[in-house]
Amino acid sequence: MKRVGMLTSGGDCQALNATMRGVVKGLYNGLKGDVEIYGFEEGYKGLIYNEYRMMNSRDFSGILTKGGTILGSSRQSFKSMKDPDENGLNKVEAMKQNYRKLGLDCLVILGGNGTEKTANLLREEGLNIIHLPKTIDNDIWGTDMTFGFQSAVDIATDCIDCIHTTAASHGRVFIVEVMGHKVGWLTLHAGIAGGADIVLIPEIPYDINKVCEAIERRNQAKKGFTILAVAEGAISKEDAALSKKEYKAKMASYPYPSVSYEIAEQIKEKTGADVRVTVPGHMQRGGSPDPYDRVLSTRLGARAAKLIIDKEYGYMVAIVNGETCKVPLGEVAGRLKMVDPDSGIIEEAKLTGISFGD
Ligand code: F6P
Repeated sequence: MKRVGMLTSGGDCQALNATMRGVVKGLYNGLKGDVEIYGFEEGYKGLIYNEYRMMNSRDFSGILTKGGTILGSSRQSFKSMKDPDENGLNKVEAMKQNYRKLGLDCLVILGGNGTEKTANLLREEGLNIIHLPKTIDNDIWGTDMTFGFQSAVDIATDCIDCIHTTAASHGRVFIVEVMGHKVGWLTLHAGIAGGADIVLIPEIPYDINKVCEAIERRNQAKKGFTILAVAEGAISKEDAALSKKEYKAKMASYPYPSVSYEIAEQIKEKTGADVRVTVPGHMQRGGSPDPYDRVLSTRLGARAAKLIIDKEYGYMVAIVNGETCKVPLGEVAGRLKMVDPDSGIIEEAKLTGISFGD
């Protein structure tokens, strides 16, 4: 009998349930039902405080298209993982004890970068871990794609599509602020897919004058409107040149809700344009996974099941060049996958006339 624990940690995304379904179906079929599933509630919290549900294959039926996570999730920062909780409990020791008390053979952890660091810590502490790369940000090192990303691209693209018609009617400059944390994958893909004229991402710090020049060029060409896809982590050249301390001091009295509003004000000032900001926010993480993510998550989940059946632990399951593979957790944890400013996709986007404000 295999005893497999499972948890979803960090910000949710569209294909968490689909991935768990892939794991569980793979385990039930591969082990002919000789498996017990322990579903920990709300991420690492469930493992720390031993809050779990015994689950079976029926719990994972009918959830391929269901967004969110049937286990619930929470953010438990890696930084504070080694600190005791408010009652003095050693959280890492508590997780190890609960794992051992339940006699688990392994723990399947679905999450992003922070989650992955804790997963690696638990691996170093001797637990059998399999990590599955979740996030709309697509910033996990070692995999070409994370599940959730393509579904979020669809939503952000739909948003830019809708903005196009109203921007054109009113001859306005529109900023669509796209999620993605510290990286620009989501903005870059949605920006290209939605036909944005200007795309600002953290990996390519912008010069506001260059941004305004791109708007002016469109005005001169009688385009009538301009769409900017701006990553929530976009940064100006001046800010990128600040030391960490100086940047922190600037942000302490930052008067804008986010970078898009600062850019909007600067564009208004410099060009006199009528500027609006749209922030789709958490919508980008909501709803059903798209077909791409359903396939990806089913494959990653099934591959995780195969690793568990073969007793191969300590890996992240990745997709590289269209094939699933195992990547040692110790090699990828703590590394961020960013957009390469010199990559083909940036060169091609620039060739089609997209300005990155650089
Ligand atoms: O990592 C996923 C993500 O949606 C990021 O794109 C965003 O910066 C962050 O999570 C938002 O976090 P929260 O859900 O805690 O507001």
